[in-house]
This record gives sequence, structure tokens and C-alpha cells, in this order.
Amino acid sequence: MKIKLLPKGDLCKADCLQQSILNPRKRKRYRTFGYIKKQYAKNPKLFIGCYDRDRLVGIIFGFVKKETVLLGEFAVDKTYRRRGIGKKMLVLFEVHAKATGKKRILLGSKEDAERFYLDRGYLPLLFVQIQHKKVPKDYRRKGYDIIKETNYPDAKRLFIRGEKCNPRLKGKAKKDFNAYDVIYLFKKEIK
Ligand SMILES: CC(C)(COP(=O)(O)OP(=O)(O)OC[C@H]1O[C@@H](n2cnc3c(N)ncnc32)[C@H](O)[C@@H]1OP(=O)(O)O)[C@@H](O)C(=O)NCCC(=O)NCCS
Repeated sequence: MKIKLLPKGDLCKADCLQQSILNPRKRKRYRTFGYIKKQYAKNPKLFIGCYDRDRLVGIIFGFVKKETVLLGEFAVDKTYRRRGIGKKMLVLFEVHAKATGKKRILLGSKEDAERFYLDRGYLPLLFVQIQHKKVPKDYRRKGYDIIKETNYPDAKRLFIRGEKCNPRLKGKAKKDFNAYDVIYLFKKEIK
């Protein structure tokens, strides 16, 4: 097994691999391939591949956003999981993320990968998205530690500090804030 920077010629293959794992029902893509190509041109060292001989079996795609390195896509072929590949890929990604000089790595996790990031020293944040018209008037007094909030045309977004992942807290926050989506984000300071 070889973990290395993803060569440009394998970007398309890598994109197919991540889509087949992270978007198996072929829903509308969150990031287009055009966007991914542009990001690769800017920061190719944030793209990692894992190879079994010539076969690509794992990928990480990272993007720089202001002071943050966003770990956008991370996937290992099902038959290769639980062999320590993901762990090693993340270590190499972190080396290159640090070399950018940015402050932190941030990622959104799928539910069953939360443990994986907690064990790798990432801190969980609850990320709450609420339609503006549904934001409760007293949302700041609901007993949550809101560390950042942003307003986008479509929604208000709250970032809430959490010490560990608690699936019940996600449900509770969803109700308390009338939110349409609550997920855990994970962050690691790298500066
Ligand atoms: C998450 C993922 C990339 C991890 O890759 P991997 O190669 O299986 O990970 P590793 O074998 O290096 O696992 C490292 C450790 O995490 C644990 N782990 C891995 N995946 C886990 C999971 N889904 N749930 C709980 N623990 C997990 C392993 O048991 C191992 O623990 P250990 O260090 O105590 O032995 C891979 O499971 C995957 O592609 N999942 C589907 C897509 C996904 O969820 N991507 C992440 C989106 S944010």
C-alpha cells in the first residue's frame, strides 16, 4: 500500500471513487468537479491518494478557505477499511495542511466516522443551520455555548462548542433551534 500526493492525472479517477462512496445515490453534488479541479490547481498538496499497486483505493481532498484548511472529501474503498489506511492518510494530510501556514483543519463528519476524528485529536463543534424566519427569538439564551454565528442569505448558522459527540444533543439542538440541519464539525488547531 502506498500513500502519496495525488498526481494530476488521477484526479478524475479520485473524484469517481469519492462520489461512489460519499454520494452513492448520485444526488446533486455538494462540490462540482470543476471546483475540485480549480482547488487542485491552487493547492495540489492537499490531495492525497492511497494505492494498492496501480489501484487507487483511498483519497483525501483538501481546500484552503481563509485561515482554514477544509478537509472536504475523505474516503477509503470499503474492502480496504479498518486496516489503518485512513489513519495514515490523515497524518500525511495534516503534514501538508500545516505547511500551508493556516490556523486549523475543519471538516464535517458522517455520523459513523465521528469516533475516528475524536480519536485523532479533533474537537467537535455542533453546526446548526436555521432558516431565518424560524430562528427562535431567545436562541442565545438556550444554554448552548455559541462560539460563532454567521448569516447567509438562505440561513443562520451557529457553531456551538461541544466536548464530545452526543447524538442526542444533535436531536435536542435541532428542536431547540427549529433547525433544518444539525451536524458535527471537527476542528484541529495546527498553528
Ligand atoms: C472514515 C474512513 C475514511 C476511515 O478509513 P479507514 O482506513 O477505515 O480507517 P483506519 O483503518 O485507519 O481506522 C483508524 C481507526 O479508526 C477506527 N475507525 C475507522 N473507521 C471507523 C468508523 N467508521 N467508526 C468507528 N471507528 C472507526 C478504526 O477502528 C481504527 O481504530 P484504531 O486506531 O483504534 O485501530 C473510512 O471508514 C471511510 O471511507 N468511510 C466511508 C466514508 C466516510 O465516512 N468518510 C469520512 C467522511 S467525513
